[in-house]
Amino acid sequence: MKQTKTLFSGIKPTGIPHLGNYLGALKNWVELQTSYQGIYSVVDYHAITIAIEPKILKQNTIITAKILLALGINPDIATLFVQSQVPEHTELAWIFNCLVPVAEMERMTQYKDKAKTHKQNVNMGLFDYPALMAADILLYQAQAVPVGEDQLQHLELTRLIARKFNQRYGQFFIEPQALITPAKKIMSLQNPDKKMSKELGEANYISLLDEPNIVIKKVARAVTDMGPQENKMSPGVKNLFDLLDYLEQKETYQNLQKEYKQGKLKYSDLKTAVSDAINQTLKPIQNNYNNISDQAVKTILKIGAEKAREIASKNLIEIKKLVGFI
Ligand code: TYM
Repeated sequence: MKQTKTLFSGIKPTGIPHLGNYLGALKNWVELQTSYQGIYSVVDYHAITIAIEPKILKQNTIITAKILLALGINPDIATLFVQSQVPEHTELAWIFNCLVPVAEMERMTQYKDKAKTHKQNVNMGLFDYPALMAADILLYQAQAVPVGEDQLQHLELTRLIARKFNQRYGQFFIEPQALITPAKKIMSLQNPDKKMSKELGEANYISLLDEPNIVIKKVARAVTDMGPQENKMSPGVKNLFDLLDYLEQKETYQNLQKEYKQGKLKYSDLKTAVSDAINQTLKPIQNNYNNISDQAVKTILKIGAEKAREIASKNLIEIKKLVGFI
């Protein structure tokens, strides 16, 4: 059955997606594809806001799309495509550039963080990133956008851009809603006060293609604490418990929580339970991944770009008319 509500989301091809991406967003992408018309994009234009070798970008784009397929994105019901293959995204972003106040862009915390960590390459694309993200979403008139917590500010800006466009040019865009899950912010294993991210280095995250022994090692080295502190669970321990919860290990979670409350919990037991749960989750994903060829991915992406373009070009014609282009 064709779904009437549209959902859009994107992921940057910066390497192998991690457990935070999966639990915070990608798992939801798969679950929602049957109740929405799902449009999913590997957003390569966003990836070049941070310097990346062309060869690596190509590899990452295929890896990311293959992971999405391995997770269960079904190209027969959803649309999966690469952003740069649908040029309407950047065209619409320019129109949005002429609507969005610089002061609004300057408030973006992701921009501020990235400008600090990539001091040698604070480019206009990095600053303008949210205008392109708004174009990604609004181009398809998406009502829903499943993302992790770190994207909520960008979503708010997208809603503002939609309102500004509608005010200036007449009602056209719907204000999209973010869809978040309880796993909206998975924390780093080494710096549990920061979100899990590849930027922090290998030991901080679990890649979806990490082998079981690597998972065991990374979790074993995860930061915990030296015992319960004044009834407050430390962020590292909380993150491990959260992982158990999000990986749907209800019974183990409850048992270990009980031990924690009694002051009897051995962190090594908690860590073993967490790495077991992660490995159980990753195994079928990795099996699927190994059974998809690069060629199959490229074919699916080509068809996906054609499907996406059909909607994008139709909407952009209407948008351009409203703006006054002849
Ligand atoms: P990206 O590529 O950084 O991440 C992809 C998705 O994973 C979520 N995520 C997390 N969720 C929970 N815990 C974490 N530690 C964690 N780290 C990442 C992100 O919130 C995201 O949902 N700007 C976007 C890509 C994008 C986009 C869009 C998303 C471009 N255009 C349009 C939605 C709609 C980004 O950089 O995601």
